[in-house]
Amino acid sequence: MTTTATTSAPHTTTTEALEVTDGRNGKTYSLPIVDGTIRALDLKQIKVSENDFGMMAYDPAFMNTASCRSAITYIDGDAGILRYRGYPIEQLAEKASFLEVAWLLRHGELPTQSEYDQWVKDITYHTYVHENIKHFLEGFRYDAHPMSMLGSSIAALSSFYPEAKHIFDPAQREISIVRLLAKVPTLAALCYRHVKGLPFVYPDNDLPYAENFLSMIARMSEPKYAANRVFAKAIEVLFILHADHEQNCSTNAVRAVGSSHVDPFSAVAAGVMALYGPLHGGANEQVLRMIESIGSVKNVAAFIDEVKSGKGQRLMGFGHRVYKSYDPRARIVKQLAYEVFGVTGMDRDLEIALELERIALSDPYFIERKLYPNVDFYTGLIYRAMKFPTSYFTVLFAIPRVAGWLAQWEEMLLDKEQKIARPRQIYTGYDERQFAATLEHRRPAKGP
Ligand code: ACO
Repeated sequence: MTTTATTSAPHTTTTEALEVTDGRNGKTYSLPIVDGTIRALDLKQIKVSENDFGMMAYDPAFMNTASCRSAITYIDGDAGILRYRGYPIEQLAEKASFLEVAWLLRHGELPTQSEYDQWVKDITYHTYVHENIKHFLEGFRYDAHPMSMLGSSIAALSSFYPEAKHIFDPAQREISIVRLLAKVPTLAALCYRHVKGLPFVYPDNDLPYAENFLSMIARMSEPKYAANRVFAKAIEVLFILHADHEQNCSTNAVRAVGSSHVDPFSAVAAGVMALYGPLHGGANEQVLRMIESIGSVKNVAAFIDEVKSGKGQRLMGFGHRVYKSYDPRARIVKQLAYEVFGVTGMDRDLEIALELERIALSDPYFIERKLYPNVDFYTGLIYRAMKFPTSYFTVLFAIPRVAGWLAQWEEMLLDKEQKIARPRQIYTGYDERQFAATLEHRRPAKGP
């Protein structure tokens, strides 16, 4: 018997289908193939009895499941290609500004001059945060991790803008997006100053985005802060490189949390906390800690042996779920590192990083597993050269990623196919069993 599935992607016609025969009862099903995928819901019709829930796909860690259709970022992991809205990352890094890229990610096209000017003006206007946020941040301990502080303060912003919950009002979405892009660098700088025990510095809205951020980081008693041009360019380029990366762990968190229709401040805060993890954005911090712990070029070979044995740690900054060749961002970052070292002097551990890369790229263990440097491998050396503390590195990743998260969040909201994200599970626990009280403990007395 052939059963044709009725569910197929809207606006798409297809003549291709996957023929599936259920070995349990010999029934054959024809599942439409659209864009090289079948719909997991089409599997549900495959049953052995009326009471059967139907077939599900089991895919821990989303290794082979597309959770959305997206027109924002394209990655070809085998070819080492990354494009935002069709534009190669190399061209954007060389020629665009970060706020232009933020507009592009959200709107799909580059802004006109007047659109860009208005966008920059709006974002610049909203850089200040409520004074209570300052007091809120003062409550953190001196050694609080800046990512904890950043995530909490972005979540706290949601309480300052309760109207942000009207997510289907385009005007509210617009102002929330502008506020987030404007205020996250300010919050990030406040976190930095808190960690350093320095007085908070207000935004200087005469300055462009990257320079304004650096001013809030580094300004002391001077009336006007002029950032080093190479540093400002490095921050701008790094912001562009980190602005989006399609459906990674933190973007998935933003989409999943946002799918509950919570306000974007809360959804973005979830993204920050997901990014914090050492297997994701937190890797840039771990790379530097790893390089520091290796200590000398002569220890690199032994360290690599330990990595390969599986007994030690992984080679942080290497490997990627999607890139199975050189991460195109890593190539740009490596070049940028040399420009920054031109100002600061050569990094004392660059040799260790280069040796790690050299051995790893020629070692069968890494070649067979297609493990190449990812974006985080060299960023830490740049950040350290610019005197950012190691614990702050992931914050420098989070600031620009807000642009991507917001574009992805809005795309998800406006996608008619999306609903609250709710995966299925395969239950592996006990069947029903009876509770018998064995402990002595106090429970609230029943009755009046
Ligand atoms: N060092 C040593 N071995 C590694 C590394 C590494 N960095 N990464 C993967 N492997 C090995 C695994 O041990 C495994 O080997 P096996 O097949 O013998 O068991 C194989 O390569 C496949 O690894 P997985 O963990 O299955 O790959 P996955 O796609 O799940 O992991 C990840 C990707 C998390 C990025 C991983 O490569 C890793 O841990 N890298 C180090 C951390 C890091 O740099 N993260 C930043 C990623 S970029 C970003 O998020 C911004």
